[in-house]
Amino acid sequence: MSKIVDEPEAYFSQFALKEDQLLQELQMEAVAEHIPIVGPVVGELLFVLSRAVDAGAILELGTATGYSAIFLARACAMNEGMLTTLELDPQLAARARKNLERAGLAKQANVICGDAFAHLTRMAGPFDVIFMDIEKADYARALPECHRLLRPRGLLVADNIAFPEADSFSQAIFSDSGWRPVSLFAFLPGHSPERDGLCLALRC
Ligand SMILES: C[S@@+](CC[C@H](N)C(=O)[O-])C[C@H]1O[C@@H](n2cnc3c(N)ncnc32)[C@H](O)[C@@H]1O
Repeated sequence: MSKIVDEPEAYFSQFALKEDQLLQELQMEAVAEHIPIVGPVVGELLFVLSRAVDAGAILELGTATGYSAIFLARACAMNEGMLTTLELDPQLAARARKNLERAGLAKQANVICGDAFAHLTRMAGPFDVIFMDIEKADYARALPECHRLLRPRGLLVADNIAFPEADSFSQAIFSDSGWRPVSLFAFLPGHSPERDGLCLALRC
């Protein structure tokens, strides 16, 4: 029987996307300031998935400095659509606005500062894609609003599900017939942390 490559982490690192200067700068800032961001592989995955479902309306929960938002807003821009992204911390929200502007995406992204839970209940969908990247312990609580806001066959992507705090989310989504979820555990170069889980779920 054939074996997988020797040193798969080194092997797959060579295929991590070569980021542009702004994304590299945000990645270095994130490392220096201990801001957990998705990194180039998950960033590109978000772009590819959003394009694959032809997304025009995307919602992100947890913006930080706008690294993942740049990938999502770039996908929206190709459909003349709009990313809405929610961030609790006013300083991070201001940095994200500036970074999206530097990326030429100010018109494709609306950074809303505040608690996602206060805003979600007041929002109207439908969204084609929702990316969940807030406190892992809060994912399960956000799930009903994500279901309400996604269009049928819309896509939910949840980051960091290898953490025990996300277990309530995994248990809830895998026992709810309103979702068709799949969980992956992977080596993700440049992601924080590099070995982590992602959940992709179709809204039924
Ligand atoms: C993991 S970071 C987001 C990283 C970002 N998605 C990226 O990859 O570039 C999580 C962010 O969610 C924010 N956050 C946590 N709880 C939140 C809430 N209830 N509402 C809005 N933002 C929240 C934090 O302030 C933090 O900036």
